[in-house]
Amino acid sequence: MNTLKRKTIVVAGGTGNVGSFLVQQLLEQGARVVVPSRSEDKIQEFRSYIEKRNESLTERLHLIKGNLSDEEEARHILERITNEVSKPDAAISSLGYFVPAPSLLDINFEDLDRVMDGYLTAHFKVARTFLPVFQENGGTLIFINGPLAFEPWDGSGLVSIATAAQHMLFKTIAKESTESRAQVVEIVNYAYIRNRETQPSSSISGDDVGKYVAWLISENSGGYHGESIHLSSPDQVRKIEKVSHASVL
Ligand SMILES: NC(=O)c1ccc[n+]([C@@H]2O[C@H](COP(=O)([O-])OP(=O)(O)OC[C@H]3O[C@@H](n4cnc5c(N)ncnc54)[C@H](OP(=O)(O)O)[C@@H]3O)[C@@H](O)[C@H]2O)c1
Repeated sequence: MNTLKRKTIVVAGGTGNVGSFLVQQLLEQGARVVVPSRSEDKIQEFRSYIEKRNESLTERLHLIKGNLSDEEEARHILERITNEVSKPDAAISSLGYFVPAPSLLDINFEDLDRVMDGYLTAHFKVARTFLPVFQENGGTLIFINGPLAFEPWDGSGLVSIATAAQHMLFKTIAKESTESRAQVVEIVNYAYIRNRETQPSSSISGDDVGKYVAWLISENSGGYHGESIHLSSPDQVRKIEKVSHASVL
């Protein structure tokens, strides 16, 4: 399948749990995929992770050392992507730093800062970096969020607070972009992924989440600006596959 041929897609957090599934599916659908990472070791490790799955995919995988949470570095990363690959057509923000909190009253405030940084501020900086490009030239910004933003589970208090704020960040940015050429979408991901493996209790697989996100960015989707899509069942993915297949016939 080559539904994303000639598209350049940035996956912020691409080395992570959800991000690794997104990167693989986007590469398999023909995109050039850029993954910025703060760590040189992670860059090396991630290249061999993709290589082991399918060596030919690494030809279109661009790994860039840098921190998207730092505005100056983020500007530099955008410049490098534009000069070394092409102007980006889409960016996916799939960042996070999970800290369990058995009780909010007992949290340590350094953990609060780390969680707010990973699930809120870093997503905000990704938006600030890429959205102006998409507002001017067209393009898609996707926030990856999770069900904890809408309902706290045991021990998820810290992450629930930060991701609920991330949901409002998405809504506000989508509203402010309505008159522009940018498409801004939130995927509320119900796949439960640890160590880049879909966990047995998950209602949907990481691969299916990757397929859905790839479809959303492709010309086949038709546009979902401003929508928060709760992706919890493989049926949602089979449905879009049927529609895409029918449109090809
Ligand atoms: N995993 C799940 O089961 C699950 C379920 C539902 C929703 N989600 C959502 O999916 C998204 C990603 O979650 P994940 O579990 O895949 O995350 P993750 O693997 O823990 O982390 C993803 C990447 O985020 C980057 N990162 C973390 N903190 C950062 C910061 N302060 N500044 C810049 N980069 C930072 C790291 O990249 P580098 O170290 O390479 O720079 C890391 O590899 C989140 O929005 C989360 O709410 C996840």
